[in-house]
Parts: sequence; C-alpha cells; structure tokens
Amino acid sequence: MAVLVTGGLGYIGSHTCVELINAGIDIVVIDNLYNCKKSSYDRIKALVGKDFPFYKVDIRDAEGLQKVFDKEKIDSVIHFAGLKAVGESVEKPLEYFDNNVTGTLVLLDVMRKNGCKKIVFSSSATVYGMKNISPLTEDMEVGGVTNPYGRTKYIIECMLKDISASDSEWSVCLLRYFNPIGAHKSGTMGEDPNGIPNNLLPYIAKVAVGKLEKVNVFGNDYDTPDGTGVRDYIHVVDLAKGHVKAIEKLDTHPGLEVYNLGTGIGYSVLDIIHAFSEACGHEVPFVFAPRRPGDIDICYADPEKAATELGWTAQYDLKKMCEDTWRWQSNNPDGYRG
Ligand code: NAD
Ligand code: WQD
Repeated sequence: MAVLVTGGLGYIGSHTCVELINAGIDIVVIDNLYNCKKSSYDRIKALVGKDFPFYKVDIRDAEGLQKVFDKEKIDSVIHFAGLKAVGESVEKPLEYFDNNVTGTLVLLDVMRKNGCKKIVFSSSATVYGMKNISPLTEDMEVGGVTNPYGRTKYIIECMLKDISASDSEWSVCLLRYFNPIGAHKSGTMGEDPNGIPNNLLPYIAKVAVGKLEKVNVFGNDYDTPDGTGVRDYIHVVDLAKGHVKAIEKLDTHPGLEVYNLGTGIGYSVLDIIHAFSEACGHEVPFVFAPRRPGDIDICYADPEKAATELGWTAQYDLKKMCEDTWRWQSNNPDGYRG
C-alpha cells in the first residue's frame, strides 16, 4: 500500500518524498505543477535512486483523482497541495478558498468513496492568530487569523475535526508548521519561489547570491531583544521527518491529533541575517523598513507534544539551515529553471 502525497513536487512535499522513500514507504505523487517544476520529480528520484509514480492532477478534479485511486493502491494521504502566499490571498481570496478549501473537500470525498480514511494535513502556526502568547501549545484556541490564506487552514482544520467526529474510522493528523527553511544537504533540492520572495529566507538567499540588492527588515521597534520579529525557523528535512512519524502514527491511532512542528527556539530577523552572512561568507546588506501589516512580534512553538507522542524532535540548528540554503541557492541561482 502507498501514501498519496498531494503537492509532492513542491518545497516541503519534495523533501518529504525523499524521507518517506528512505524510510521504506511507497509513495504516489500528484501535483498540478502550479507552483513547482517537473524537474523536481527527477531530482527526488536521483536522490533516492528509485522510481515512483507521479500524476499531473489537480485536487479539485474528482475524476482525475479517482483515476489515480483506480490505478494505485493508496491507503493514506499526506496533503500538501495548496496556495500559500499570505499577501496574494488578500488580493485573491476566492482563488484561495477554491484551491485550498474546495480542493480539500473534493480530495476528502474521493478518499471516502475509496475507503481511504487516513490523512496528514499541512496546517500552519498561522491558525494561532495574533492573541496567543508563545510558546504556542496545541490546546490553545485557534482561529483568530488575519488573512484569507490562514482562514483556509483554519477552515480545513475545522472540516477535518468534524469529519473525524462523525466517523471513527478516520485517522487525522494536523501538523502545524512554524517557519520551514533550509534545503536538502545535497544542494539539489530547495525552495524556489516565483518572482520576488515574500518570506525572509528566500529573500535573504537572493540578496546573498546578488539577485536582489538588500533585505528590508520589516520593523525594528517590536517588543523583542533587538526590536525585530522573532520566529521559530525549522529545517525542511526535520519537518519532512515529522511527516514520516505522523504517517506511522495514523496506522495505530484512530481519531484526530494536532502537533506543532517547530524547534521551540525563536530567532530574530537580525539573528537570521547574521547567521546567513556567516554561512555565505560575506555580509548580507539590509535596511530597516516599516512593519509589514499583519505581522506579530514573536511566534514560536512548544514542541513537547510531538516529542512525547510522535518521538520527533528537530535535529538541525540555524547554522545548518543557513548553510544548506546557501548550498542550494549558490548551486542553483535560477532554482529548478537552471
Ligand atoms: P509549495 O507551493 O512549494 O508546494 C505546494 C505544491 O502544491 C506545489 O507544488 C503546487 O504546484 C501544488 N498545488 C497547489 N495547488 C494544487 C492543486 N489544486 N492541485 C494539485 N497540486 C496543487 O508550498 P510548500 O511550502 O511546500 O507548502 C506545502 C504545504 O504546507 C502548503 O499547504 C502550505 O500552505 C503549507 N505550509 C507551508 C509553510 C511554509 O512556510 N512553506 C508553512 C506552513 C504551512
Ligand atoms: C519572518 C520574519 C517578517 C521578509 C509566513 C506565513 C505563515 C507561514 C510561514 C505558511 C517576520 C520578517 C520577512 C522580509 C522581513 N506560511 N521579514 N523582511 O510571516 O513568520 O510566516 O510564512 O503557512 O503562515 O505568515 O514568515 O518569512 O514572511 O517572515 O523582515 O523581506 O521576517 O516581518 O518577522 P512569517 P516570513
């Protein structure tokens, strides 16, 4: 039996495919290639030295999904497919609700029709909203989200909670990611955003490689040690390994569980710029700029529940996250297009 990985050629999905295969788990990947390159498939296969099935399918396409279920033996799903740009979601809320919420509904319906009732879902720390105080624990109230992207994650969490409450055959794992960064140590796979990056690390990496002039540090008057925003950055390979643990948990654990995937350590924007400067061997230029609307001062996880119940703890430190990002960026200045 295989795990269906939706959005499996994207940033987190591709790294997770490598870890699943390395753990001896069979996978089937679908992706509509909206935010990735097909060459990501070749790079995964080259890294693991194995073939696996890939289908270009949109999760909103019930017939396309059914054909995959007809052809493959699928007994669980890791669901990454979705749109994820916070700013864009404010401008195009309908597209985000359609892709993320409708897409997940179609996927869940096809799963149910095929008797496949195990799912790991990519949620986000964004569901904790503005009011909860870090360290964030899974039992805190969620939903105070400030943008349509975050609302899609919250709505999907609610859908999965209701489905699991209605039918005890479902096993559901909601994974709330903090700030995934880094790349595979080989330097052949990493994050490759289209256009100007929205997130801090890809932006810094593009400045370091000479594609952008300087980093704009959004706000230096937050209530933090150096005045810049503090986040819980986690290596994407650690995150990927968390999915292997989660999928193993589903096999023995019906019902719904929620886990934070973070390190429990908060770093400021300036900490990150300095660590990246060390990793790339030259100073990354930056200027202070106004706060970005919707940003909070501090956000980091309490990772204890995942440690206790999944036996998962992040292994890689900030130095490694920056070194691996730099290896990927400097080897592939044009990402997967290169
Ligand atoms: P990504 O854009 O690199 O990967 C998502 C993949 O899904 C892409 O390859 C895209 O082509 C595919 N996709 C999108 N819509 C689809 C559809 N309708 N049908 C089929 N495929 C579709 O993003 P990522 O960073 O790898 O994120 C993966 C998941 O994790 C997303 O759901 C995202 O919201 C969530 N997440 C990401 C972060 C982060 O900071 N990267 C943090 C928290 C949660
Ligand atoms: C990190 C810090 C910025 C860019 C977002 C989503 C969240 C999740 C992860 C998907 C903040 C500062 C950033 C820049 C800066 N994604 N910054 N200059 O905002 O913590 O989380 O990605 O689920 O939902 O909201 O990540 O990388 O954008 O920002 O100073 O050019 O870097 O203000 O303090 P964020 P980020």
